[in-house]
Amino acid sequence: MTKAGIILAAGLGTRMKSALPKVMHAVAGLPILGHVIAAMRAADVERIVVVTHKEGEEVRAFAAKLGAASVIQEKQLGTGHAAACAAAALEDFSGAVVVSYGDMPLLTAELFEASFRVQEHAGMSIVAFRSDNPAYGRVIATRDGLLERIVEYKDANEAERRVTLCNAGILAADARSFFRWAAKLENKNKQNEFYLTDIPSIAKREGVVCGVAECAEILAMGVNSRAELAVAEAAMQVRLRARALANAVGMVAPETVFLSHDTVLETDCQIDPYVVFGPGVVVRSGAFIRAFSHLEGAEVGANAIVGPYARLRPGAVLEENVHVGNFVEVKKTRLEKGAKANHLTYLGDARVGAGANIGAGTITCNYDGFDKHKTDIGAGAFIGSDTALVAPVKVGDGAITGAGSVITRDVAAGALVVVRAEQKEIPGWAEKFRLRKKAEKLSKKK
Ligand code: UD1
Ligand code: MG
Repeated sequence: MTKAGIILAAGLGTRMKSALPKVMHAVAGLPILGHVIAAMRAADVERIVVVTHKEGEEVRAFAAKLGAASVIQEKQLGTGHAAACAAAALEDFSGAVVVSYGDMPLLTAELFEASFRVQEHAGMSIVAFRSDNPAYGRVIATRDGLLERIVEYKDANEAERRVTLCNAGILAADARSFFRWAAKLENKNKQNEFYLTDIPSIAKREGVVCGVAECAEILAMGVNSRAELAVAEAAMQVRLRARALANAVGMVAPETVFLSHDTVLETDCQIDPYVVFGPGVVVRSGAFIRAFSHLEGAEVGANAIVGPYARLRPGAVLEENVHVGNFVEVKKTRLEKGAKANHLTYLGDARVGAGANIGAGTITCNYDGFDKHKTDIGAGAFIGSDTALVAPVKVGDGAITGAGSVITRDVAAGALVVVRAEQKEIPGWAEKFRLRKKAEKLSKKK
């Protein structure tokens, strides 16, 4: 059966106190909304509609980037009203629809799959978890585990408030029926809002029962504040590290390694403590990332060694057996097989040929204040320490540059180039200098 999803993200998220819309705050390097969309997609939800605030331009642009449609909820009249705003966008759709809030970064595909399974069986489903947090609506179940109704904590009586089964905010139903029920919602409650949680009671009048799928509280946690964002990040890191360890990635202190949602760590690579992965990193099998390194948008080839204290920026590609050592920054640069840059170097907009050696303190001067230029270093070249390569410039295969050289013109393959003032030596000068200075001091004291 085809599936659609509605993600509610039109709330103001005022408790975040942020210029950035709440659902655009990142968890493991991906906006929260991206996690919800990814989980839905992984559960085979084909059409996704994000309900946004009229000022949610950024949210709509992000949704579009992930292939999701979006609609505007002009006024924030409640979660049921928000879901109903997706009706026109799904007018031509028939099948099952799942509604989810957009601020739950830890949702999983399995959770959506479970909600569809229960929906298929019972006619409709909600997801619930155990908690005594008064932020959540209470799920009143019948003896046989079906849903009686959901009551918001604010509207609940004492006995209902003691119920620990809580509404996660995921509801699955037949789409055509859902929109028919949503049109019948009323706002006679403490908050004068059209509650999504009243839908099951409306369905019941048509004889449709609602099953309950249970999950762990953390999976359905909503982010409303910076503190909750940090809790979600920590939980996501635990999940990502566990996944890496299960894939036989070596990490002696996984709790100190920060991963991105899309970090690819191949089996049997090794990650030292205190390594941070921004988005878009691939580390191949046998590679070793040593402590205190920061990587983003980079690819590290098989058996390469990076760090300690290395920085790989977007476009850094390290082929097999490359070594990039301490205080080396690499941006938009390919280091071919076995090339080495072991100390204190900046390589930007460059190619370093196979087996080349980059001496300590080498800098590619890639920027002239207006444009970026390329540096090309041939295979087997030896770049002496403290060489400045003023781009655009090429150093041929096997060439050697003398330490301290500023290279402004192309160097032929196999040549030696030295660009520095000639060394001058004056025998005995130092000794004479010291004697003169000492004599001057003595005469001043007298
Ligand atoms: C809601 C549920 C509650 C559940 C809890 C789980 C209702 C009435 N209550 O309460 O049972 O336990 O979530 O976290 O549904 N939104 C809109 N438009 C609106 C209002 C909200 O798009 O007019 C969006 C928000 O952006 C948010 C989501 O809906 O992503 C939930 O809204 P929120 O106000 O946080 O609902 P809760 O009071 O937490
Ligand atoms: Mg909420």
